[in-house]
Amino acid sequence: MEKKRTLVTCALPYANGPVHIGHLAGVYVPADIYVRYLRLRGEDVLFICGSDEHGVPITIKAREQGCTPQDIVDKYHGIIKDSFARLGINFDIYSRTSSKVHEKNASDFFRKLYDDGAFITRESEQYYDPEAGTFLADRYIVGTCPKCGNPGAYGDQCEKCGSTLSPEELINPRSKLSGATPVKKKTTHWYLPLDKYEKWLSEWILDGHKEWKTNVYGQCKSWIDGGLQPRAVSRDLDWGVPVPVEGAEGKVLYVWFDAPIGYISNTQELLPQSWEKWWKDEHTSLIHFIGKDNIVFHCIVFPSMLKAHGDYILPQNVPANEFLNLEGDKISTSRGWAVWAHEYLQDFPEKEDVMRYVLTANAPETKDNDFSGRTTSSATTANW
Ligand code: 2FM
Ligand code: ZN
Repeated sequence: MEKKRTLVTCALPYANGPVHIGHLAGVYVPADIYVRYLRLRGEDVLFICGSDEHGVPITIKAREQGCTPQDIVDKYHGIIKDSFARLGINFDIYSRTSSKVHEKNASDFFRKLYDDGAFITRESEQYYDPEAGTFLADRYIVGTCPKCGNPGAYGDQCEKCGSTLSPEELINPRSKLSGATPVKKKTTHWYLPLDKYEKWLSEWILDGHKEWKTNVYGQCKSWIDGGLQPRAVSRDLDWGVPVPVEGAEGKVLYVWFDAPIGYISNTQELLPQSWEKWWKDEHTSLIHFIGKDNIVFHCIVFPSMLKAHGDYILPQNVPANEFLNLEGDKISTSRGWAVWAHEYLQDFPEKEDVMRYVLTANAPETKDNDFSGRTTSSATTANW
């Protein structure tokens, strides 16, 4: 009898910073434990991960540091890969979305959907910097927060009071690039019409996967019941996989379109001859380990992309954990609020298993948990 085959993926961490204890407790240690368990049972397993190297935060970090986005991702890809290896999280491949294999694969994936008429196009007005001559992602617009008065709030969020914002709400908005006042300009993008997949998603998840974790099923139900909208799959940006369509100069695939395709690309890179049995054979179980902020992308968006493509299997399960917070506050790479894996490994040599044990014992499986260095009586607080 053929051995049971399981493809386990872990969310591709953004290469805009090192990995921290929240990543490890929520995604990577639980996935590694599951993979070790399957291997002990003698099953056929592939464990895939890599760095997510596109998106706006990486371009912002590069600008702040006076280097290129490629310099940023080269630095953090190295640090992240090394941390995983030293912690004994042994992926079969840890690659990256700036690889040639991925650029071709993501581009081909988009092109197949484009040729099949799976996208719609829409014209919208986006913020534009008239001095720098470029469109501005929300993060590239700063101004005063209307809620707390912080003069350095971003167009998508105020990091001081935590409010979610839109650029329209900022008082005295200006471009981070030139300081100019942003203006609105028309632009066209490709959208995946998720509304067309709503009925199918409802049957596949809400009827067919009642066994998924309560937090995962609940989020899916609330997205589907709320009604799905078309989602843009391209952006006006100069860092990412170029949109492979004539007339799309200056546009790249949205990072959340190309990143999950990275799971497939990395499998192809590892197994150029035999990758298809892991992605196209119904006898393979595909399992995505992720954090709760990734649920909509792995349960709604990526499966709709796979369904639209038509050649691929769908995830069998998407075990998402909640968050591990740090001393009562959300861990944040941009605010530097974290316990970094590479620093722990340097400060506590040969104590990898201490870290793995503490994070396993306190994994935020059903609700957020808190990590604190102080002694406390709370049963849900993780202490060293
Ligand atoms: O949330 C994150 O860290 C994303 N970089 C996860 C991407 S997962 C997959 F789609 F690649
Ligand atoms: Zn604020």
